[in-house]
Amino acid sequence: MFITFEGADGCGKTTQLVLLYEYFKAKGIDVLKTREPGAQGLGEKIREILLNYDGEVSDRCESFLFLADRAQHIDKIVNPAVASGKIVLCDRHIDSTVAYQGYGRGLDIPRIKMLNSIATNNIRPDLTFVFDIDVKTSMQRVGQEKDRMESAGFDFFNRVRMGYLEIAEQEPNRIKVIDATKSIEEIQKEVVKIVSELI
Ligand code: TYD
Repeated sequence: MFITFEGADGCGKTTQLVLLYEYFKAKGIDVLKTREPGAQGLGEKIREILLNYDGEVSDRCESFLFLADRAQHIDKIVNPAVASGKIVLCDRHIDSTVAYQGYGRGLDIPRIKMLNSIATNNIRPDLTFVFDIDVKTSMQRVGQEKDRMESAGFDFFNRVRMGYLEIAEQEPNRIKVIDATKSIEEIQKEVVKIVSELI
């Protein structure tokens, strides 16, 4: 099973991923925690460029770097883990590119989706959580120290948020929207309930 965690920066998805990881571990379930961009090796190098490069990066180049990282990640980490029977929990995946590069940067959304299919070889998550939060709160949570992506500004993040909600409406079976303003404990209960129903 392949479960992805999505949402704008500062939405709390990583905290929830770690809690679900620990929940599975405690039950003796074989689980892997990973992320995009930059799970390991080559991906870490791509991540470094994406988050810290201080020269100009074109929107299309940015998209291809995320997609290159994704192809490597699917081939070398996600697929082998799923094939060996592990539950894979991934911090960001295909929907980040649709939300950030499609809705956020304004690139053509059907083309981004098509490129996602090429990068993943048509592998799709079984379940995706979108942690929804208003932009003001998420930007406060991110704070002053911003990386290249986080510096994109309020309007950009508003489009990203609206993008996630629209994607979720299009695929209600796969994507579950969680109100990320609730407490960590409340959200975790909700996440565990949804995952247990699916299992
Ligand atoms: P990261 O530090 O992992 O952010 P977070 O902790 O919020 O997940 O940085 C990843 C950044 O890259 C984040 O701002 C979202 C962005 N991103 C895209 O724009 N497109 C993508 O396809 C992916 C995977 C991430």
